[in-house]
Amino acid sequence: MMVTDFFENNRKPLFLAPMAELTHYPFRKLLEEIGGVDVFYTEMLSSEQIVFQGVEKSIFLKGIECERGNPLVFQLLGNDVEVLKKASKILISIGADGIDLNLGCSAPFVYKSGKGSGLLNDRENLKRILCGLRDTIKDVPFSVKMRIGISPDRDEFLDLIGDIVKCGVDYVVLHPRLVNEKFRRKARWEYIEFIKKEYNVIVVGNGDITDWKMGVNKLNNKYVDGIMIGREALSNPWIFREIIFGKNLEKNYRDFLLEFIEYVRKYLPEEIQLKRVKLFVKWFTKEILFGHYLWKEINKCDNLMGVEKIILDFFKS
Ligand SMILES: Cc1cc2nc3c(=O)[nH]c(=O)nc-3n(C[C@H](O)[C@H](O)[C@H](O)COP(=O)(O)O)c2cc1C
Repeated sequence: MMVTDFFENNRKPLFLAPMAELTHYPFRKLLEEIGGVDVFYTEMLSSEQIVFQGVEKSIFLKGIECERGNPLVFQLLGNDVEVLKKASKILISIGADGIDLNLGCSAPFVYKSGKGSGLLNDRENLKRILCGLRDTIKDVPFSVKMRIGISPDRDEFLDLIGDIVKCGVDYVVLHPRLVNEKFRRKARWEYIEFIKKEYNVIVVGNGDITDWKMGVNKLNNKYVDGIMIGREALSNPWIFREIIFGKNLEKNYRDFLLEFIEYVRKYLPEEIQLKRVKLFVKWFTKEILFGHYLWKEINKCDNLMGVEKIILDFFKS
């Protein structure tokens, strides 16, 4: 798979954002069935776990063997170049269509361990990792997903991007918020323009797309080569198709949820099934009328059959 396979279509590609404990195989499979996503991302995967525990044991890679469809990029978390290189090779050997390095996660335990956005604090190690991965990842696209950095200073930001571009990444996914902003303030999409005016690199924009109109608007921005959607895909998995068709679509929340549970049962290990369902339902019910009530009822339940009954009762009324 080449980077051109992602970007040289007759329209700019739509990416599903990586989201920990949420963009697992059951969710991706349902999105694939709805259609509209051009490139999928896994949730972030610990490079150490992949190398030292093996992929067979990873609960995060369940279902990979069944995965067939639009390209799937595996996102790696780590800060040791040799471990990251080994992990990439393993993931490519099991069918990764792309490898992404997480430079954006700002969760305190990740940041403090020098991973995710913590990697931005050690520029020499960052360059070693990026160039090392570039040498290793030959046959599939190699990308980074990042925030702006620690400071909003444009020159500092462009200096950082310069180093990343020099190491030869195929594209950059930018969620243009500062590392410590979490989801505060609005995403600063103008930073994508800053990159494109300075460097010849493909940039995917991400952050705060909450409906199809906004998606279309971002795609029409000449500096943006593609868009990535995270949170809105959880409460409206139809958004990708809505963007393509340029209109609101009919949504069957009940059937989506029931099918979601069916796939979770089929593809995820039993010990995490209920937890994953509850986490997803919390996001999924945000745009449903009285969805908060549905979420509260499901959250109290301790088995999947009970959850299914709650769903059936809720949508009957
Ligand atoms: C619950 C949750 C989990 C996330 N996990 C990851 C992750 O594993 N890797 C990553 O790069 N970003 C992760 N993110 C960030 C998203 O990929 C995305 O950059 C961010 O949510 C902004 O996009 P949005 O406004 O479309 O949601 C996560 C975000 C959320 C809300």
